[in-house]
Amino acid sequence: MQRIDGAAIAAKVLEETRARAVALAERGIRPGLAVVLVGDDMASRAYVRSKDRRAAELGFHSVKKELPASTTQAELLAVVNELNRDPAVHGILVQSPPPPHIDEAEIVRAIDPCKDVDGFHPVNVGKLAMDDPTGFVPCTPLGCIRLLAEAGIETTGRRAVIVGRSMIVGKPMALLLMRKGVGGDATVTVAHSRSRDLAAIVRSADIVIAAVGRPHFLGAEHIREGAAVIDVGINRVDDSAAPKGYRLVGDVDYDAVADRCAAITPVPGGVGPMTIAMLLSNTVTAAERFNPRPG
Ligand code: GUN
Repeated sequence: MQRIDGAAIAAKVLEETRARAVALAERGIRPGLAVVLVGDDMASRAYVRSKDRRAAELGFHSVKKELPASTTQAELLAVVNELNRDPAVHGILVQSPPPPHIDEAEIVRAIDPCKDVDGFHPVNVGKLAMDDPTGFVPCTPLGCIRLLAEAGIETTGRRAVIVGRSMIVGKPMALLLMRKGVGGDATVTVAHSRSRDLAAIVRSADIVIAAVGRPHFLGAEHIREGAAVIDVGINRVDDSAAPKGYRLVGDVDYDAVADRCAAITPVPGGVGPMTIAMLLSNTVTAAERFNPRPG
């Protein structure tokens, strides 16, 4: 069984990204990333802090806006518009999910698609669906594709089952795996909590992408011998023995399935570090596109 080391692969992506940032710096350009958080969800706060910290470590111009839960739709739109106009900011991310009174779709549509490093804007969703490489691809599925590539897991002609149909992971993951060419060409099924006979569907997979957000949702009965498993879940479960009172577990019961897998990502240390690495990579891409080389 191959344990796919997301931390090591993310470190490699960060080094590549750092080299591209150095090349931009030589032209006097510093990639800028703005991360916006509304409200005080503890997990979102932790993600936003680490995005901001990693961006600063790579020498980016990093803007972190932590807004109160009482922020109105109009106030949030004003913040997005200000960031759209700021030439020092190449990438904008509004952490999802916002509080319930916020119309998230409207906020996403307000982000300049050229700064939408999350790949959530309809223009970028459309470009992904149309195989147009000038858009941005959402960071988590992009990270999963890179993990498969780095782990040497063939996708061509193989059966991939994605469990979960979110806009952030499931849907873009399906589009990526069904693309023509290397890293794609898979036969893709998207299953979800309402799928009939879920276990049989997932058992048919050579590659399982688990993205349902439920702790240990998939167990031994779901995983065929020799499958590769990418576990996107990062779920907090109470654990009085853990220093913080909780621990993180995936959507897959790692201990129950590890023996039968050809390869599997751990939680933590699998997909999680890749998401931030891909975000920073997308931000450098945005900065490069805003500053094309002459000629
Ligand atoms: N919430 C969970 N994952 C993500 C992500 O990739 N981007 C944003 N903006 N919010 C998220």
